[in-house]
Amino acid sequence: MKQLLALFLFLQTACFGAPAWVSEQNLEVLVSKEDIAKKVNEVAAKIDAEYSGQELEVIIVMKGGVCVASDLIRALQTPITLGYMKASSYGKNGASAGELKITGLEDLDLSGKNVLVVDDIFDSGNTMTQLVKKLEEAKPKSLKTLVLLSKKIPRKTQYRPDYVLFEIENRFVVGYGLDYKEYYRGLDSVYAFINDTPPLSLQ
Ligand code: IMP
Ligand code: MG
Repeated sequence: MKQLLALFLFLQTACFGAPAWVSEQNLEVLVSKEDIAKKVNEVAAKIDAEYSGQELEVIIVMKGGVCVASDLIRALQTPITLGYMKASSYGKNGASAGELKITGLEDLDLSGKNVLVVDDIFDSGNTMTQLVKKLEEAKPKSLKTLVLLSKKIPRKTQYRPDYVLFEIENRFVVGYGLDYKEYYRGLDSVYAFINDTPPLSLQ
């Protein structure tokens, strides 16, 4: 009986395509890789229509934006150039580290360009609001933002991203770029912790 259960669990995990250890980490899929792939293609088509005949500078907000940006740039037909910057508001503990730190702006040349900033998640919105304020100073021709996820929560900021791939409930999520204590970024779907409880080994 135990062996059958083990086989069932193994097959279930194998079907999701997630590494076997995921089933031991208290994780449940919130947005599947299939849904992500479909939505990335849809949004890429919208962006292509919007920038038809023009070029686009895609700015990845590291590290969380890395997965959605890398899939997006392969789905786009629009000619793109790529830049990156780093924003960190959350420390290694998964909780807010307070002050937002933005680095890498000095290496970007955005003057006169169509710029699309790509990040993982719009939570309080503080990160994106401040990034946009900073990037406007570089005088781009246009400046839009895209996030993989937006949490359904009340916010102080009036700013909203131009493209939101998925609206989610107010839960802590990991995978597809998003981390908890720097882990899980490489998972190909978005997961939440079952009962919103991370595994004991990471608490
Ligand atoms: P905001 O400034 O509150 O919008 O937070 C944005 C940043 O916080 C994101 O780019 C993430 O790095 C991090 N963050 C917010 N919510 C989550 C989450 O549920 N999981 C992982 N990281 C998150
Ligand atoms: Mg981030």
